[in-house]
This record gives sequence, structure tokens and C-alpha cells, in this order.
Amino acid sequence: MTHLSQQQHLNYADRVNLGAYYTKNEYVEIAWNMLSPYIDEETIVLDSSCGYGNFLNYPSRCKKIGNDIDVSAINKAKQNIDAMLFNHNALGNINRQQYNIKNDEKLCVIGNPPYNDKSSIIRNDIKTFNMTLDKSVKTRDLGMSFLLSYNQLKADYICVLHPLSYLIKQANFRLLKNFTDNYRLMQGRIISSSCFSESSKSMQFPIVIALYKRDGIGTTYESVIDFPWLVKNTTLQLNEFDDISHYVKRYPSKSQKPKHDDLFFWTMRDINALKRNRTFVNKHTNNTIIIDKNKLEYYIYIDVFKQFSHHVPYYFGNCNVLIDNQLFIKYKKYFILEALNQHKNLRQYFTKFDFSKTHVVKIVEYFQQLLGVHYVN
Ligand SMILES: C[S@@+](CC[C@H](N)C(=O)[O-])C[C@H]1O[C@@H](n2cnc3c(N)ncnc32)[C@H](O)[C@@H]1O
Repeated sequence: MTHLSQQQHLNYADRVNLGAYYTKNEYVEIAWNMLSPYIDEETIVLDSSCGYGNFLNYPSRCKKIGNDIDVSAINKAKQNIDAMLFNHNALGNINRQQYNIKNDEKLCVIGNPPYNDKSSIIRNDIKTFNMTLDKSVKTRDLGMSFLLSYNQLKADYICVLHPLSYLIKQANFRLLKNFTDNYRLMQGRIISSSCFSESSKSMQFPIVIALYKRDGIGTTYESVIDFPWLVKNTTLQLNEFDDISHYVKRYPSKSQKPKHDDLFFWTMRDINALKRNRTFVNKHTNNTIIIDKNKLEYYIYIDVFKQFSHHVPYYFGNCNVLIDNQLFIKYKKYFILEALNQHKNLRQYFTKFDFSKTHVVKIVEYFQQLLGVHYVN
């Protein structure tokens, strides 16, 4: 497989708007390895957002079809690869005919569609691309729209890269209903967003290379949480971890009014948000939770979790703060010590505390046990 050069022709704004970050051979190969058992000479393999055609530049005797909304990318693909190529908006007027694919032909989709929360689109430049979306695939994120478009095309198998958050965030999962009702998740390997040059170097998030089969079963949210995701040399099963949402409130309640002696905590979303945001705050706002002081130790836990989050691998980035409650009860005093070191105003809530030099070692020990093989040194 020869290496096609990285995307070169777009400026920064267009690159962001189109999510045009091309995929390295290493990941192209993983996708083909997953999909290959289901492909024969008669199968059509389609990449409806193919860029320069990296995914179609793979030795296979199947029929290959590529498409991209960006005409310059397609012109480059024409020079590089042997495939039937189109220059359509893959999310408008979605049907097999626009790619000359017959209804009874076996269709597999491969690729790395753009993921781009629409709120991050740089408005001025997007006008140069005609991106009207069919109603059936309208969501807040281009990548989710692409998954829905494969369902519209009734693809038999799909092997694409997409953020893990599409499946593990319940709000996203619900938006993908028409897709998940029809497609069963068969294999998934997690890689880091930092594998794509320039995009999200600062805060890595998990991306999956996932294989789906169109069948009558589909994928439930529970099966996603039970699923054995491959990551590096191990597997990740999210149902093996408990999280903080079972112990404290994560969002502010509008009806609750603050009192003069209240303590406040920033709204909690996922672990990546915790890394960016504050924990204990002095002022009450729309974004703060009023702490139930009976649960102060759990807020302390979250605060210390943030400080030790470099021991937590990137692939938990879209999860709630993890906790092993039994273990935490055993290690609680070390967490409290650490928090009292950092936040002197909390000392009034604890009558006895003994500063030791070894509590950090104990906290690290907790994280090693919480995370097991996933612990980052
Ligand atoms: C993440 S890049 C991947 C390109 C290629 N599949 C690869 O992995 O090297 C996403 C591609 O989607 C294209 N794209 C964005 N919106 C599109 C749309 N509505 N229809 C077709 N292509 C689109 C972009 O121009 C870009 O080339």
C-alpha cells in the first residue's frame, strides 16, 4: 500500500469546517482487516468522504467507490487511486443511485467521516461548500449525520472511525437511534484523537475504529457499556467501573437558593471537562452545584481525582469520574488530607487531620487499584 500524502490544499478554516484530517495507513489497515472477511469480488466498498482516497488505496479485488464534497480532494484522488469517484454532498439527497449502486448489490462502507460539532464550524468559510442535510440525518454533529447516512444507504457492513462519545454519551446514543436500531457493533478498537495531526493535541479524546453489521438485532446502550473494546494490548469494559454519578449530584438545581455558609462546586460533565474546569469555587452561579455537606468527601474525591488525572488514560475522557467506593472508603483520609492541603477553607469541616508526607503515595496506590492495567505511570 503506497502512502498518499497528507491533506495539503485546504486552509485552516476549511480544514476545521470539513473535518478534513486524513487517515494514516496504520488505521486504514486496521479497518480493512476488520472488514475483509465480509468482502468478495462482487462487494462494493464505498468511502463517501474519501479525501485523497487513503482508504481506497488498499489492495482488494472488490469494487471501490469514493466521494467527497471537496472537488480539489477528488481531483487529487483521481491521480492517486483506481476507483469510481464522485463529488457530491454525502449528506444531501442520500441514496444509492447517486453512486450508481444497485439496491441488490452488497455494500460495505469504510472511511473516516468528519466529526465536527456544528457549533465549532467557522461560519464564513463554510459558505463555499453546499452542505444541505437531508432531514433524516440532521444532528448537531457531522459525524453522527454520516453514521445515519450509511443507514439510509442500507449498507450491509460499516467500518469507520468515529468518536467513542457517539456511543457512550446517552444523549448522542439516542440521536443515533435509527442507526443503532439497525446495526450491531461487532468489533471496536480505540485510538487517540492525537493520532490526527493538529486536531485536539491539547486534550486527547477516544476515537473508535468500529465494525457494524446490518441485522435485525442492532446495538443497545447496555451492550455498548458491556462491550470489550480493544485498546493497546488490552481490553476495556466500561461496565467494570463505577462512577461518581451514583454518589453525588452532578448538575445545579435551579430551585435551590444559596445560603451564606454554602460551599460551591463546578458542574460536572466528563473527565475531560473536569480536567479543563475548576472544582471548588467561591461564588454561586448558574454553573455551580450547592454542595450537600454530608457528601463533602465525594466532592473532595473529585477534586483529588482531577489532580491525579494524569494517571487516567485518555480513553476514559468521555466517562464520568470513576470511583471504587469500597476502596475509596478505605483510602478516604488520604484524599481528605490532600484536599485540605489545597483548600484551606475546607479545614473547618474536619476536626481532626494529621498532615503526613505519605498520603500522596497512598492516593497513587488507590489509583493503581482502581485502574488496574489501565493505570498510567
Ligand atoms: C476526516 S476527513 C477523511 C478523509 C479520508 N476518508 C481519509 O481518511 O483520509 C473527512 C473528509 O470528509 C469530507 N466531507 C466533509 N463533509 C462532507 C460532505 N457533506 N459530503 C462529502 N464529503 C464531506 C471532507 O472534505 C474531508 O475530505
